[in-house]
Amino acid sequence: MNKLFTPHDLAGLQLPNRLVMAPMTRSRAANGVADVLTARYYSQRASAGLIISEGINVSQQGIGYLFTPGLYTQDQVDAWRCVTDAVHAEGGRIYAQLWHAGRISHNSLLMDGEVPVSSVARPACGARAYAWITSSVPGQIITSEPRALETAEVASIVDDFVAAGQRAMEAGFDGVEVHAANGYLFDQFINGELNTREDRYGGTIENRLRLLLETIDGLSQAIGAQHVGVRISPFGRQHDLQPFDDEPQTWLALADELGLRELAYVHLSDQQAIDADCEDDFLVNFRRAYPGTLIVAGGFDQASGESALQSGKADLIGFGTPFIANPDLVERMAHGWPLAQADRKTLYGLHGARGYTDYPRYIEQTVAAPPKQLMTRASFSADALDRESEQASEAEARSTLTSVVDDFFSAWSDAEWQALAPSLAKTATLQSSQHGEGRGLDDWRRLLSTDTSALLWLRTSNHSIVIGRNGQAAASCYVYGLFGRGRQRLLYGASVVLRFRHHETNGHWILTSAHINVNWCRGDLALAAHWRMSPSDSGWELGDAPPVIVSELDSPWALIRDALPQSDAEVAVRELYSKYSWAIDQGDIALLSDCYTDDAAGGFAPMGPLQGRHAIVGQLKSFRRHWPWMQHFADVVRLKLEPDRRHAQMIVARIIPEQPVDAHGHALYGAHYQIRARLEDDGQWRICWTDYRPGWFTNADVPAFDIGITHA
Ligand SMILES: Cc1cc2nc3c(=O)[nH]c(=O)nc-3n(C[C@H](O)[C@H](O)[C@H](O)COP(=O)(O)O)c2cc1C
Repeated sequence: MNKLFTPHDLAGLQLPNRLVMAPMTRSRAANGVADVLTARYYSQRASAGLIISEGINVSQQGIGYLFTPGLYTQDQVDAWRCVTDAVHAEGGRIYAQLWHAGRISHNSLLMDGEVPVSSVARPACGARAYAWITSSVPGQIITSEPRALETAEVASIVDDFVAAGQRAMEAGFDGVEVHAANGYLFDQFINGELNTREDRYGGTIENRLRLLLETIDGLSQAIGAQHVGVRISPFGRQHDLQPFDDEPQTWLALADELGLRELAYVHLSDQQAIDADCEDDFLVNFRRAYPGTLIVAGGFDQASGESALQSGKADLIGFGTPFIANPDLVERMAHGWPLAQADRKTLYGLHGARGYTDYPRYIEQTVAAPPKQLMTRASFSADALDRESEQASEAEARSTLTSVVDDFFSAWSDAEWQALAPSLAKTATLQSSQHGEGRGLDDWRRLLSTDTSALLWLRTSNHSIVIGRNGQAAASCYVYGLFGRGRQRLLYGASVVLRFRHHETNGHWILTSAHINVNWCRGDLALAAHWRMSPSDSGWELGDAPPVIVSELDSPWALIRDALPQSDAEVAVRELYSKYSWAIDQGDIALLSDCYTDDAAGGFAPMGPLQGRHAIVGQLKSFRRHWPWMQHFADVVRLKLEPDRRHAQMIVARIIPEQPVDAHGHALYGAHYQIRARLEDDGQWRICWTDYRPGWFTNADVPAFDIGITHA
């Protein structure tokens, strides 16, 4: 009988199958805090028997790689709560991997003046950390020279793990895994060739295992041994670990010790499976010494995983890389569907959704595959698509359209046209209030490249995409950019609408038009001498060129009438803010009315509290008249669905283009909205409560949810 798809009782946690998503660092947490993409990434993979999170830093001292998340601040706990809620809402289970990188780190990642710590003051030869090469450039860099932890300091490492374990449980994880594998801090103590300490943490096997066992015991006492697992990589040679004399005895002694503790599991990063320096019968001996649940990971495919289960070598199989490109790995393996390959370029780093949450499920891919003609224009008719395939089509189309939108902005800001060219219709029209009008790639390149010589940066926000059943789609967003030459500066803000057509035969989305309207600019107008006209905050006057190229008629919600419902509730809620901002900034009162529920209420500083859609819309209409060119630039910085999935909470942070970052490079915001949204019976998300709160903060100290409390 096939074992991979049979259930397993993990110390009381019922796993529906034996596929474990192995821990994988993705370096996507810009400030060490998980975000909505993290929640989406893990919840997409919730059909795994168990998810083990990426390595999570237990302290600032333990950080080894940039943009890795932590569990040492309340913000981090709150953010992980959104992730675990999302995974549980999809029926999944998730453990947090707790991590201290020890000497595999770099001074630039640590507090001022700190250096990495380890068992001894010996650097890892040739090892690299992902850290700051200069104060603003991240990259791979040789690890810094560590210092040896004082004997008395070792207890604080245990404390950090215990505190992080408690926070993990507070954040809703089902348990924690101590990361004692791959050459990080615990391995640096266990390895007898490296650890030449002469205190109670070095020398004998017992001493070298002490730090790990004290940590496990501390955690077991704090959160229960049934919630504690541990990952080790016996015979691992990662990060300059060398063979040592009593190596097999050390690992088997550890197996004995762990066996006494009734832990949730031991997770072996199986060096044999990845052809490393390991004794042939080691796994069998380890299994004999450790009677509890054993996970093995490393180089497994379905056949070798099944065979490891059948032979009794392991109880659960950890799959790493296969989960990256196959969010539905369990379903693919269960049905014998082919696996997608991960794009190695986006394994790590701040690539947003790319290579993270945009890998489709097999079922979506099949619906989207051009050879089957399922994504042709005709198939966008309501008859052809049932709800599930509509969702799949929407998700697939959205992912493609997002890439083309990105390509458009790379072309505009960096003169990088190669990626966009295949998606641009031969007769695509460009209409811009500032750049003029043109048709086709050469015109677009000529008109927009007039900006590039003086452009210091160009950023986008307030994105939305609406996809129609008729094979048409539209995307809108805001742009703010800075021109500079010498000491001159000019800041400007624009609205952009891109329109797309789905190609009937080849299944691609083609960009057919771009409308750009620069709404305002401030600074030295000489820098915009190439523009057809310079907008200003004083508004249009008789004799000026027609100013409005983007109006409410160009909003995606006006252009695309018979829209597919958004496949992802979080995207829908996020785009509710884009819709609201577009409506108020364009004075589109009908669209604005559609953003609120009838019974909406909340605080509208500086006007005060308002009750009911009627009062809100009337008041906002009067309010906006004073700022005809205003653009509500913003980022959604927190978002979570409530358990009923019909309500959502969101914090939207107002970007102030004059000061988008602070002195440390953190995104800076001048105010925020607390918003609660409700999914109404017509399938639309609307704001049912909101409170606007002026006050500066950065993305390193985002306000907590405070829903239902009106300050205004
Ligand atoms: C992108 C990536 C990140 C990883 N990060 C971690 C990590 O944070 N913690 C850890 O214990 N192992 C980490 N690993 C190792 C994996 O958990 C796994 O052991 C390894 O990929 C081998 O399994 P596979 O052949 O199924 O991919 C990582 C692997 C990859 C590919």
